[in-house]
Amino acid sequence: MENINEELLKLNTHFFNPTEDVVMVNGKGIYLYDEKGREYIDCAAGTFNLSLGYSHPDILEAVRKQAENLIHVTSSYMTEPVARLVEKLVEITPQSLTKIHLKVSGGSTANEGAIKMAQNYNGKNGVISLFRSHVGQTIYTMNASGLSFRREPFQGLLSTGITHVPPAYCYRCFYNQHPDTCGMQCVDRINDFIDYASTGNISAMIVEPILGNGDNIVPPMDYFKKLRKLADERNFALIFDEIQTGIGRTGHMFAADYYCVEPDIMTIAKGLGGSGFQIAAIAAKPEYSNMDGHHHSFTYGSNVLASAAALKTIEIINTPLFLANIKETGNYIVSYLKRLQEKYPFIGDVRGVGLMIGFEIVNEKGEPDTTLTNQIKKHAFYNGLLMRTSRYGFGNVIKIRPALTLTLQEAEEICSRLEKTFETTMR
Ligand SMILES: Cc1ncc(COP(=O)(O)O)c(C=O)c1O
Repeated sequence: MENINEELLKLNTHFFNPTEDVVMVNGKGIYLYDEKGREYIDCAAGTFNLSLGYSHPDILEAVRKQAENLIHVTSSYMTEPVARLVEKLVEITPQSLTKIHLKVSGGSTANEGAIKMAQNYNGKNGVISLFRSHVGQTIYTMNASGLSFRREPFQGLLSTGITHVPPAYCYRCFYNQHPDTCGMQCVDRINDFIDYASTGNISAMIVEPILGNGDNIVPPMDYFKKLRKLADERNFALIFDEIQTGIGRTGHMFAADYYCVEPDIMTIAKGLGGSGFQIAAIAAKPEYSNMDGHHHSFTYGSNVLASAAALKTIEIINTPLFLANIKETGNYIVSYLKRLQEKYPFIGDVRGVGLMIGFEIVNEKGEPDTTLTNQIKKHAFYNGLLMRTSRYGFGNVIKIRPALTLTLQEAEEICSRLEKTFETTMR
């Protein structure tokens, strides 16, 4: 076995980006195993996409059954899994979103399609996006992304018409305000950005309801109601990028349900594939759907096999009991971390909804402590916890977003390994 490991790792020299020095061989639920049989709890659920964890048996069964009949057919034809998935998505997304576009190949192309749909509908060109948002990695979505390091190496590919605005990051407010008294300036001041910094011709604003890569920022409850009002007043489309927050991650099918706000367009990907099948969708109000499909259509969009997986995923997640468990396990982890704050002052803000959780690591002055964050991440690995941080903010936020199948016992296990990690880090 060790030889296989060495042999595989030698191949790293051919990889565009060399991988970590560990060979993973199988996974089950929240657990991942390397070739030495070491067990890890994956607190990032793959790339935040394994809503049902590794190799969920019902997903495997649904896919196996579908594969015997049809794996792929051009999306010009009707198939049962795709048609049923469209029907299901209309049922579970906010009421006014009755049109589904499935011919996209992932989150970036879904977001790019949503922006095209808005521009096709209202004929305007400007787009507003949040600081710290990911949006995607196609040329346009990279430009819409809320961090300049994404664009730095690609100066020849810069797009115009995108205006970035600060998010509702109350812990470190851009406007130095307090949420109890600010009157939500972060929404009001968007008017200034539109009037003074944009094309003046805003087609859409794209927002992640909870910034995923950008440090798990959870806006106050009324933020999106106010943003909805602004979009209506200034006559632009409100696009919710629910690529991380959708399909149960918050304990609601969509963060739009948690915030009780209907966007004009919503994008869905990641968790929709259950155990890692590649599928994404755009849900839109009917007026946005008059763009010819061929303007945004990808070979692996409307994938029949992935649609079978997605249907089964929704069937499993969209039950009151399953969603209640997400809230319960999420609350357990957040409360545990808040208790640990007393013992470990380097734990700064702890924030989350459902199983979309993040916590800041800070120094004695309350400033972001990236060095300590990376140490904790490293020690967590040795304690059998796979944790993610990101460069979208200060790099000091550790995320806990395991598979949504998480049991209370598994949540306890995550917390106990985390506590052990904090102890070893402080030694
Ligand atoms: C919120 C959000 N939007 C869009 C994307 C892009 O999705 P994809 O990587 O499938 O293109 C991601 C990916 O991490 C994401 O987290």
